[in-house]
Amino acid sequence: MPHSSGLLGLKSASKDKIFELFQLARHLKESGETSSPRGQSAVLLFLEPSTRTRVSFEMACFREGLHPVLIQGRMGSSLEKDESYEDTFLNLEAMNPAVIVVRANDDVDVSSFLKRLKIPVINAGWGVRGHPTQALLDAFTLWQKWSSLEGKKLLLLGDIRHSRVASSHFELAHALGYEIRAFAPKDFLPSDIPLKTFEQMSDGLGWCDAVMALRTQKERHRVPMDASSFNESWGLNARQARHLRKDALVMHPGPVHWGTELTTEIKEDSRSIILDQVESGIYIRQALLRMCQAGTW
Ligand code: CP
Repeated sequence: MPHSSGLLGLKSASKDKIFELFQLARHLKESGETSSPRGQSAVLLFLEPSTRTRVSFEMACFREGLHPVLIQGRMGSSLEKDESYEDTFLNLEAMNPAVIVVRANDDVDVSSFLKRLKIPVINAGWGVRGHPTQALLDAFTLWQKWSSLEGKKLLLLGDIRHSRVASSHFELAHALGYEIRAFAPKDFLPSDIPLKTFEQMSDGLGWCDAVMALRTQKERHRVPMDASSFNESWGLNARQARHLRKDALVMHPGPVHWGTELTTEIKEDSRSIILDQVESGIYIRQALLRMCQAGTW
């Protein structure tokens, strides 16, 4: 049987399928519905650090009656003994989990053997493949507030070039019809995606329905950045937030570097929905696990 389900990216996700996921996630949130233990496991292969994605996938597994089995970092796994990624995946699959969830960098390339895997593989933030469940939970959070994302305007701030959350939003915006523009230093703009930008942050803030600041991905920078002066020119603070509409929303996928991408005043800003995004992660991931199991995703 060829590999047919799971979620690696959002390029081929249809609007109808995404709304089916959102409707299920909303139902799971409103009903609190959980499934009884099914005697099946989900392998969470987290080779890069994570708090939100890992914990929400673990919670989503418990809510779906799946036992999460966590591999956290290479240390302690046989990757440390030079086992290949191909053998790692095939051996994990041989233990018959319901799904493998992967957080990794680009070194973990499954393209040569993906077709041989029969179980769903879900991207939980995986190098250039993006971070599709983060983009989905962001959009789900907005969809609950607005009912539709068609024609809505999202301003991205900060390190867009190194952000896999941003790359997944570029794919999702295409399916759901929202427009993305940016305000960022030249070095933080993607080189391969035509993106409308603003010269002044105030113009971008006045234009948007929601602004999302992105984490400065220091681990992916070739030249170290000066974080101490970043916020003044490129981050969001109370002074700049005055340019946002009263009904605009402030987002960040986390983890936030307070004082860099956002200042702490933004925590108290009633327009901030950062913790709503975190809560959405549980239901989007629970819904995705259910749909992957049912073969409907
Ligand atoms: N947003 C996000 O992926 O956060 P974590 O790295 O904590 O999972």
